[in-house]
Amino acid sequence: MSDSGVPAASTSVKVVGVVGCGLMGSGIAQVCAEAGYEVVVREVDTGALQAGLGRIQAFLEKGVKRGKVTPERLQAVLGAIRGTTDVAELAPADLVIEAVVESIGAKRTLYAALDAVCREDTIFASNTSSLSITEMAAGTRRPDRFVGLHFFNPAPVMKLVEVIRSPLTSTTVVERALEFARSLGKEPVRSKDATGFIVNRLLVPYMLDAVRVFEQGLASATDIDLGMRLGCGHPMGPLTLLDFVGLDTTYYIANIMFDEFREARFAPPPLLKRMVQAGMHGRKSGRGFYDYSQDPPAPVAGLV
Ligand code: CAA
Repeated sequence: MSDSGVPAASTSVKVVGVVGCGLMGSGIAQVCAEAGYEVVVREVDTGALQAGLGRIQAFLEKGVKRGKVTPERLQAVLGAIRGTTDVAELAPADLVIEAVVESIGAKRTLYAALDAVCREDTIFASNTSSLSITEMAAGTRRPDRFVGLHFFNPAPVMKLVEVIRSPLTSTTVVERALEFARSLGKEPVRSKDATGFIVNRLLVPYMLDAVRVFEQGLASATDIDLGMRLGCGHPMGPLTLLDFVGLDTTYYIANIMFDEFREARFAPPPLLKRMVQAGMHGRKSGRGFYDYSQDPPAPVAGLV
């Protein structure tokens, strides 16, 4: 632990670049800074950057209120994160974690820019939850130094990181990624590169099935959620979890998984599609299976 209250990082990585300061990118930047790394986080514009940095500050302030974080540590963690809108500022990074929009085109463009500014030995890691690590790696000048590092939402709280190896990733890079995840206080699991990896491969069909059960009128949203919370000990029921992850995100992932495996269980049910079309994206849009303008959130009427 350093004087600032931030533990010294324990891997050969010193500077971490994080690209994207949305929900996942801001959480990842925070986790890295909390573990003692120097973090440079890049967003496309100042507005998005300020929103992301504000999210980190709000999380830490909540931690201070809960007595989990000291005010000194809050300052130390925020002080370890530098925001930028310029990709060139990622040049000193030993590891770059990409958490931008799930679009292969956007990611390819970004990796080309990163290839041009980063050192040859810099490792690239994608936080993608559904796109192919192999396809992204193959489009860079460092396919052997490219790995998947998949964090879970909320990243500062969830203990798991999936480490994904493509057929092109070197064993040394996989080992370094595992060591890095452990240095963050996370528990890494290894997966090969098939869309959804371990967790989403199991979680997405489960959430889609919950929508089907609801759509078929078997039970109310509240009872489906209560059933899985109290019957199986899950922290959130599947429809609450869908609202939490985002209906649009889940719909997008499900389509990619269906495209990869061609199995009916990955096909998004019509109700999910209609809700996404209606802009009911869950918590972030204020409405999904529940209405978040009410406290506690109330089930939305008239969905089926
Ligand atoms: N600062 C510090 N610590 C904080 C904090 C803060 N601001 N906010 C929460 N915490 C800590 C709490 O202190 C607590 O830690 P302890 O257990 O050590 O006390 C822990 O985080 C949980 O907090 P709470 O108990 O207050 O919160 P909760 O009970 O409301 O749980 C939750 C919130 C962690 C989100 C829980 O509901 C949960 O685990 N839900 C499921 C989340 C999930 O499944 N995520 C994965 C989604 S899928 C995904 O991400 C993959 C993908 O690609 C789509």
